[in-house]
Amino acid sequence: MAISQLEKTLILIESATSATAIFPDLSNHQKRYHMLAQICHPDHVSDMFKHRASAAFAKLSSLYASLNGKAKSTTKLGKWTEVTPFAKGVICDLYIGKLTGVFEATGTIKVVQDLADNDLMDREVTALKILAAGSTTEDTHFQRKVPAVLDSFEVDDRRVNVLSHLSSTFFYSLETLHKLFGVGGIPFRHIVWMMNKTLMCLGYAHEKELIHGAVLPEHLMFGDVSIPVGELGHSVVLIDWTCSVPFDQVKKGVSIPLIVKDRSDNYPPEVRLKKIRPSTDLYMAAKAFQQVSEPIPARFKPFFDLCLVESTKSRPDDVWEIRDMWMALAKQEYGERKYVKLEVPKGD
Ligand SMILES: Nc1ncnc2c1ncn2[C@@H]1O[C@H](COP(=O)(O)OP(=O)(O)O)[C@@H](O)[C@H]1O
Ligand SMILES: [Mg+2]
Repeated sequence: MAISQLEKTLILIESATSATAIFPDLSNHQKRYHMLAQICHPDHVSDMFKHRASAAFAKLSSLYASLNGKAKSTTKLGKWTEVTPFAKGVICDLYIGKLTGVFEATGTIKVVQDLADNDLMDREVTALKILAAGSTTEDTHFQRKVPAVLDSFEVDDRRVNVLSHLSSTFFYSLETLHKLFGVGGIPFRHIVWMMNKTLMCLGYAHEKELIHGAVLPEHLMFGDVSIPVGELGHSVVLIDWTCSVPFDQVKKGVSIPLIVKDRSDNYPPEVRLKKIRPSTDLYMAAKAFQQVSEPIPARFKPFFDLCLVESTKSRPDDVWEIRDMWMALAKQEYGERKYVKLEVPKGD
């Protein structure tokens, strides 16, 4: 083995002040650990490096263990184990884990990065519980449009929310779909049903007097899922309710708690003016679909213009009305409703 590679690895580990300095990409941390451990294992180096390699190997192993153990916890439901990092959000590190105990489940474990954001985690749980409450048929449909809260607890004062996990075999975020379909954008045939499902989801949320506050391409998950049984059907799940605001707070002048930095163009002006309305979600939904779509057919342009109007005075708040408008346009353009299978191009 070339000494330079060993030295590079030793310096990397010796200078690391956190696990993320060594494992920046949570999706391949296991492979990276094995690769680095091979290089700096004390049995694999010459005498000259043994001392440094032993210390580096111990540090590497403990940082790796801290990564895996971070979200491990025993709660009143049982024990969350096999916790594996899989994504990084704006305020959380996300893991997949398995619950063993009275219930068995697979969950998305969201661990807040900064203790100062603990309140946003409470917001998410409160919103998802409000959305899950209720027993009408429509609500039952709606429950499938947001994740369920499986568990919620604290580890070292850090808030952790465990939500139902959306399998990547079935679900793609709008952002991922955009990448997979490539520069031409997502075919409008798909935008039609995706927008319809999104508007339904927002319609139900607004009926429960909640503004989502972050309707961004990375938070809209779509798939063809056979629920409850039988035929495949189009499905949406709107995730990340950490920025949601109940209507009664809106009346008191409360706005969205944070603007996602890389997406600042997706927010309408009223967010910064602290005068949000239900139509704030509508604006963000229209913006998200405009960003990822193939060129929008002429017939739909007035729809986007209406949803993206800057002034909330000229933008409608009633999502159901807007959805009727969308469906009427879709009928004029494509005829009767028809299921179009989501065939996603394979990535590289
Ligand atoms: N329930 C879930 N199932 C599958 N993937 C999820 C789930 N929740 C979040 N993700 C993935 O993790 C990313 C970050 O999650 P998010 O809830 O937005 O975290 P944050 O609140 O930190 O921004 C999402 O964009 C999505 O790709
Ligand atoms: Mg997010």
